[in-house]
Amino acid sequence: MSTTAFHIAARDGRARTGTLTLPRGEIRTPAFMPVGTAATVKAMLPGSVRATGADILLGNTYHLMLRPGAERMARLGGLHRFMNWDRPILTDSGGFQVMSLADLRKLTEEGVTFKSHVDGSTHHLSPERSMEIQRLLGSDIVMAFDECPALPATEEAVAASMRLSMRWAARSREAFGDRPGHMLFGIVQGGVTRELREESAAALRGIGFDGYAIGGLAVGEGQEAMFGVLDYTPGALPDDRPRYLMGVGKPDDIVGAVQRGVDMFDCVLPSRSGRTGQALTRRGQVNLRNARHAEDPRPLDPDCTCPTCTGYSRAYLHHVVKAGEIIASMLLTWHNLHYYQELMAGLRAAIAAGRLTEFAAAFDAERLAGDL
Ligand code: GUN
Ligand code: ZN
Repeated sequence: MSTTAFHIAARDGRARTGTLTLPRGEIRTPAFMPVGTAATVKAMLPGSVRATGADILLGNTYHLMLRPGAERMARLGGLHRFMNWDRPILTDSGGFQVMSLADLRKLTEEGVTFKSHVDGSTHHLSPERSMEIQRLLGSDIVMAFDECPALPATEEAVAASMRLSMRWAARSREAFGDRPGHMLFGIVQGGVTRELREESAAALRGIGFDGYAIGGLAVGEGQEAMFGVLDYTPGALPDDRPRYLMGVGKPDDIVGAVQRGVDMFDCVLPSRSGRTGQALTRRGQVNLRNARHAEDPRPLDPDCTCPTCTGYSRAYLHHVVKAGEIIASMLLTWHNLHYYQELMAGLRAAIAAGRLTEFAAAFDAERLAGDL
């Protein structure tokens, strides 16, 4: 008997809405997962993240293995208890972060050795060690250990990297074993080449995963190229399994990806941009550092129900951003995460009502109309 389930309640074109059920809670899809890399969604208490509407968070193997360490985390009762979030957590597997953050990387068939960006100490990751770390953390959704080539790369290099990731996916599946209540997702690679993406999807289907991620996108290829890959890749994956687009994205990226059949997303954009004075709204991005807000008594968005928009003026937000006050990060992160979760709720409702095309058209019109 399985203790996890993916139920599709409604479809509209290639888009789907439903629920992914895990022992720690239900995830409404399409879902946005706020990023809690270092056991915190920066500037937010876990209860506040939940209040924005999040059903699941993302954590990172790479950061947590370096600090505080996976074995220490296990001794302290696991990531959920450590960070005081009792709902589902998905953890990325570390390979992607090693390639973008670590120093002196040495990649072999077996795995990758690298120096910590924190203190220069030497560490090793392999499919087997990544599965062990994600188990020690207590992750609910575990990602297969993969590799993503730095761009620009030749098609030969992308193909070789993808095939290594597929061999690592098989080793990840073997090392993960049978863990009721936990899910293992494979990750499609292959750059922007259709044949490579289809070969990767077929390899993962052959191994068999609980869900399927699409990796190696939003790495500088541009939205048009990304949508090009999303025009065929979801269709190469099992229809009855969740699909997760890793590291994406801007609100319009998410709407376009949902229309192409993606169910799950994560991105640092709402939290990170909140810490640099940027608000994401249905009317596009608003820079609160701009002097035009200095004496504006209106809220950021009069129709937003978040604590930032119901309690504070643009003038106040401008003031605390300019003064470098901690509350600026708190208020803008809260608004941005609330906006993302409202967008996901709107997408789910539109799919359920068979009105996704109309929803997407209204979303574009509002976004392109510019700030209020
Ligand atoms: N996050 C964003 N893209 C990727 C990817 O291709 N692989 C992994 N593991 N994480 C990602
Ligand atoms: Zn708001």
